[in-house]
Amino acid sequence: MKKNTPFLYTANELFDWLSGRPDFVLLDVRNEKDFANFSVESPVYFPYINIPYFNFIEDAQGSIALVPAGQKIRIVCAKEGSAKYVADLLCAHGFSDVGYLQQGIVSWGNALVPKKISKDDEKYTLYQFVRPGKASCSYMLIYKDEAMVFDPSRNIDVYKAMAKQHGSRIICSVETHRQADYISGSPQLAKEKGCKVRANKHDFAGATFPYEPVADGENLSFAKKGPEVRVIHTPGHTMGSTSYLIDNKYLLSGDTIFISTAGRPDLGGRWAEWARELYLTLMLRLRDLPDHVQVLPGHYTSWDECNEGHVFMENMGALRQHVVAFRLANEKKFAEFIEENMRPQPPVYGEIRKVNIGFLEVSDEEADVMDLGKNECGASNYGKVGVSAERERPAA
Ligand SMILES: [Fe+2]
Repeated sequence: MKKNTPFLYTANELFDWLSGRPDFVLLDVRNEKDFANFSVESPVYFPYINIPYFNFIEDAQGSIALVPAGQKIRIVCAKEGSAKYVADLLCAHGFSDVGYLQQGIVSWGNALVPKKISKDDEKYTLYQFVRPGKASCSYMLIYKDEAMVFDPSRNIDVYKAMAKQHGSRIICSVETHRQADYISGSPQLAKEKGCKVRANKHDFAGATFPYEPVADGENLSFAKKGPEVRVIHTPGHTMGSTSYLIDNKYLLSGDTIFISTAGRPDLGGRWAEWARELYLTLMLRLRDLPDHVQVLPGHYTSWDECNEGHVFMENMGALRQHVVAFRLANEKKFAEFIEENMRPQPPVYGEIRKVNIGFLEVSDEEADVMDLGKNECGASNYGKVGVSAERERPAA
C-alpha cells in the first residue's frame, strides 16, 4: 500500500484557501489555552477543531478517532514540529491529504496579504496589506520610482518585495502613531533601506532611532510631483495620532477611526482627557471630510467589516451614518460611550510601546511572542455598546 506523506503549506496559502470555499478541516494542535487566546480567523467560517498535541502523545488512537475521517486535514501548531508529528501520525493511519503549517502560528501571525486599493486610472498605486493574524492593516503608496510605507509591521520583506516589483525604492516609512499592539517595522526598514521614518513628535519624542517629525497640514511629497499626502493631526487614540489624506481620496486613519467604531482613547491611562481630544478630532477634523473619501483603517474588529474583495475600506458618508461615535450628541455622551466600553489592555502593550520608541530591545524570538495575538484597539470591539451591522457594503 502506498504510504501517504504530509506536505508543508504557508500562511499565505492558508489565507488564500480560507478566502475561497475551504474544503478541509483545520486542526489546531496547540494547547486549549493558546487556542482560546488566539486562533485563525478568516473571511468565511470553516470547520476548525482543536485537539492538543499532547493528547496525540498520550492517546494516539483516541485522538485520531476525533479527527473526521475521509476529510482533507490542515494542521496548525505553535512552531511546526508538533503539527508535522500529528500529520505523520494521521498519514500513517489512512488520512490521504494532510498538510501542516510552515513555522506554525507565528507565521500566521506575521503574514501580510496585499490588496490593491487604487483604481487603474489613478497615477499612483496604493496597497492595503491586511495582516489576518493581528487584524491590522498597513499601506504602501507608490508613485513612479518612489514608495511610501505606512505603519509597517516587522515582516518588512513583504514591503521590500512589493517596492522592488514596482521598480521603486522606499523613501519613507510613516507612522500614524506609536502602536501598542504590534511592533513597528519602521526602524528596521530605515536601517536596511536608508529611508526616513516620519512620525508625530507627541508620540515619538525621545525615540532612540532617527525620525523626522510630521507637521499638521504638511504634504509628504514625492520627488516627481506625485499625489498629495496631507498630514492631519488627529489626536485622541494617542496624542500624536496622525492621519494621512492621499489625493483627497483615501484617508489612512490609523487607530483614530475604524470601519465600525472609533479608536480607544483609554490605552494611555488618561482616558477622560484623551476621550475629549478624540471627540473633538472626530467632530472638527474628520466629520466634514467629503463623503467620497475612502477611510482605510489601521485595524478591523472582524471580517464582517470587509468588502467583497476582502478589503477594509468605507467611505466617509457611510461612516458618518454607521459609526456610533459620530452620532453621539455631545462630549459627555461620547465619554459615557468610552467609559462603558473600557476594558483592561493586554499587559504586553506597555512593553510594545517601549520597543516602538526604542527604549526596550528584544530578540526576534521575544518579538515574535510579544507580537502574537489580535489587536485590542477599537473602542467598542468587545464592549456593551454595539454598532450597526446593517451597513451598506460598497462593491468590491
Ligand atoms: Fe493603536
